[in-house]
Amino acid sequence: MQNTELLLKKLTLEEKCALLSGAETFKTRGMPEHGIPQIWLSDGPHGLRKQAGESDHLGLNPSVPATCFPTASAVANSWDAALGEEIGAALGEEAAAQEVSVVLGQGLNMKRNPLCGRSFEYFSEDPYLAGKLAAGYIRGIQSKGVAACPKHFAVNSQETRRMASDSIVDERTLREIYLTGFEIAVKEGHPRSIMSSYNLVNGTYANENKHLLMEILRGEWGFDGAVITDWGGSNDHALGVKNGSTLEMPAPGGDSVRELLAAVESGKISESDIDARLSELLPLVFDTKAALDAAPREFDAAAHHALARRAAAESLVLLKNEGSLLPLAAGSKVAVIGDFAKNPRYQGAGSSMVNSTQVDVLLDKLIDSELNVIGYQQGFDRHGKPDAALQKSACELATQADTVILCMGLDEIAESEGLDRSNLRLAQNQVDLLQAVAAVNPKIVVVLYSGSVVETPWLDNCQALLYAALGGQAGAGAVADALTGKVNPCGKLAETWPLTYADIPSAADFATRRKTVEYREGLYIGYRYFTTAEKAVRFPFGYGMSYTTFAYSDMAADEQGVSLTVTNTGSVAGTEIVQLYIAKKNSELFRPAKELKGFARVTLAPGEKQRITITLDDKAFRFWNVKANRWEIEGGEYELLVGASVEDIRLCEKISVHGTATVHPYEDVDLDCYYKGDVLHVSDADFEKLLGHPIPNGKTKIDRNLTLGELNHARSPLGWLVWLVLTILLDVSYKRGKPDLNILFQYNMPLRALAKMTNGAISMGMVDGIVMELQGFWILGLVRVIYEAIKNVVLNAQMEKRLRGA
Ligand code: BGC
Repeated sequence: MQNTELLLKKLTLEEKCALLSGAETFKTRGMPEHGIPQIWLSDGPHGLRKQAGESDHLGLNPSVPATCFPTASAVANSWDAALGEEIGAALGEEAAAQEVSVVLGQGLNMKRNPLCGRSFEYFSEDPYLAGKLAAGYIRGIQSKGVAACPKHFAVNSQETRRMASDSIVDERTLREIYLTGFEIAVKEGHPRSIMSSYNLVNGTYANENKHLLMEILRGEWGFDGAVITDWGGSNDHALGVKNGSTLEMPAPGGDSVRELLAAVESGKISESDIDARLSELLPLVFDTKAALDAAPREFDAAAHHALARRAAAESLVLLKNEGSLLPLAAGSKVAVIGDFAKNPRYQGAGSSMVNSTQVDVLLDKLIDSELNVIGYQQGFDRHGKPDAALQKSACELATQADTVILCMGLDEIAESEGLDRSNLRLAQNQVDLLQAVAAVNPKIVVVLYSGSVVETPWLDNCQALLYAALGGQAGAGAVADALTGKVNPCGKLAETWPLTYADIPSAADFATRRKTVEYREGLYIGYRYFTTAEKAVRFPFGYGMSYTTFAYSDMAADEQGVSLTVTNTGSVAGTEIVQLYIAKKNSELFRPAKELKGFARVTLAPGEKQRITITLDDKAFRFWNVKANRWEIEGGEYELLVGASVEDIRLCEKISVHGTATVHPYEDVDLDCYYKGDVLHVSDADFEKLLGHPIPNGKTKIDRNLTLGELNHARSPLGWLVWLVLTILLDVSYKRGKPDLNILFQYNMPLRALAKMTNGAISMGMVDGIVMELQGFWILGLVRVIYEAIKNVVLNAQMEKRLRGA
C-alpha cells in the first residue's frame, strides 16, 4: 500500500493537479511511475453499466452484461434496508468482478414532483426512508471493497436545464428535506465517495459550494471521502477543489490541469487545497485497487437473478383487491392482455441502463404457472397510437376468460434521465382499452409498470391493481408469484399518489425552463403537504394492501421509541411494514402535520403475533432553527403515531420532550401560508419571508453558462443557427415519439461543458472565444477561438509528454 503523505512529497505540482481530473469517460488518471493505478468508475444504481468499448454517460452504447435489479423507486416500496444491503453486496461483487472501483449510486434525491424524469432512480419523497435505504446499499457495495458514490448532492429535482438550474431553497427546507437523506446515508453508510449535482444551490454550483461541501458534508457530517463531479458538472475547477470537490469527471483534458496550476500560482487556491483533495482520492484508489486485485473475476449470475426476483417480489404493492380477486386460483382461465406482458418494461433510460444478463417475460411465467392461460393479445400500441383492431382482438379474448390480466404502463421514453415527464397520465389508448375490456369482462387485474406515480382516474374499471413498478430483469417471476399467491405482495408506497397532478404543490411551475427553480412550497413536499393541507389523495404515502390483515395493539412509548404487538389476523403469512410518525399539535413553528421517524418490517404466519420495537434517533424531534443556525428541539408534548400508512394511524401515544430552543426562528414574520400548509400559490412576498432575502432573478446572461438551448438569446447568427438546428432535431425526435437523449443533453448543456466533455479537444479559452462571438464580437471571438485552439493543442501535447515522464 502506498503512503499518501510520502507520495505527496514526491509528486510535482503538475502531476498532483493532473490526478484531480479523469483521463477517460469512466477512468481516472494513473501514474505507473509513482505506483498510482488508473481506476474505473461505472454506473450505476441498480445494475453495473461498465462500458468496455465506446463509453458515454447517457447509456447510449452497450455495456458488459450485468444483473438488472429493480430500480430504487421499486425497492423503496419494500422499506427494507437489509434488502438494499444484499442488492448492494451483489452490485459490489459484480463491480469487483469487472474491475470497477467505484459504483456510481445510489440516487437519493427527494421526489419533489413526480414528473421528474429520474424519479425511477430515486427512492422517496421522504428523506428518512431514502437515507436508510441508501445507507443499506452503500454498506452492501462497500462490503466488497468497492466504493459507493451516492448522488446527486444536492437539491437536484428536475431534469429540465439540469446542468444549469439554480435551486432556490430556504435553509430549513434544505436541511430538513433535501439534505437529511444524504446525512443518514453518509453517517450510517460511510460512503467513500459522493457525487455532486449539476445544479447550483442558492446561486453557487453544488460542486463548488462551500456551505454544502465544506461546512455541512465534511464539517458537520465528518465525510472524509472523495467528492466526484457529475459528468461535465464542474464549473470552476479551482473553486471546486478549494471548496471540497475532489475529482472532476469525465475527462476535461490538460486545460483543467492548467486551470489548477494557474489558480495555485495566482493564489486563488493553495497547494495545500490540492494536497487535501489528493488525501481523499489516493486512499480510495489504492484501497479499492487492492480489493479488486484480491476479488474473483466471476459472479454467480443465477444467484443474482434469484436475488433480483426476491427484491422485485418484496417491492410489489397491491393497491386494490376488490372482492379478493387476487390471488388467482390454480386452473383459473386467464386472458393475458397488454404489450408489457410480452415485452417487459423493467428499467429506466439514461446512465442507469443495464445490459441485463437475462430478462424474464410475464407471459412465459404465467404459461408456466398453474393458471390456465387461454391466450395473449397485445391490446394496444405501446407508444400510444390508437389501434382499433388490437383493441377488438383483446376484447374478444377477454370474453372467453374468467379473469383478465391486463398489463399497462409507461413506455421507455415517458420517463428518462434528461427529460421530465409532461403529464402523469397513462397513454389514452391503454385507458380506452381498459374501458372496452371492462365492458365485456369486469374481472380485471391491472399490472402496472412505471417508475413513478401515474394518475388513476380509470381505477373503477379494474377490480385489482398490482403496482409492479420497474422490477428489474427478474420482475416477471415475482409478478406471476404474486398473482398466483405464491408470494404475498406486501410493499407499501414510498411516494404519494395524488388524485390529479394539479394537487402537487410544485405543479404550477414544474419543470420550469427559467434558470432559477423556486422551492416555494418549502417543507411541504409529498405527504407532508397532503396531510397538512388535509387534501385527499388517491393512495397515501405508506399505503399497500396484502392478502392478509394485521392488528396493532399494546403500544408503549417514550423518547427512545415505541413498542407494540402486531398480529397476523388473516389466513396467509405476510409481512407488515409498520410506520412511526410524529406530530406536534399547537407547535409554535410551522411544521408538517406528520413526519416519518421510524419503521419496521415484521413477517408473521397466520395467527402469529410479535412484539416489535421502533427506535427513535437524533433526527426524531429536531428542527433547523434558522435564527440560531443550528438543530434544536421544540419542547413540549408530541404524538407518536403508529400506522399502516400515513393516513391509517392505528395507535397513538403522547410523550413529553425536553426542548432546547432558545430563540423563536420566525418571530415577527408572518408566514401564515406555511402554518396552514397552504402552499399551492405562495406569493413572492411570502417566499421572500421564508428565504430571508429577495428572490434572485433568473435572467439569461450570455456567458459560459448559457445553455445551447438558449443560443437564440445570443447576438450572433452562428448562435441562432446552432439553436435552430438543435431545436428542429429535438422537435423531430419528439414527433417521432422518441426524444433524442443526446440532443436533449446538449440542449440543456451550458457552453462551459463543451470544455468539460470533449476529452481536452476544447479548452475554456476557446469557450470564452465562443462567448465573445455570441456577445456580438464576431471577428474578435473567432480570432480568439482559433488562437486558443492552437494554444490548447500545443500545451496539451507538451503536458502529456511531461506527465508520461518522456
Ligand atoms: C448522470 C449521473 C451518472 C453520470 C455517469 C450523468 O449524466 O447524471 O448520474 O452517474 O452521468 O454516467
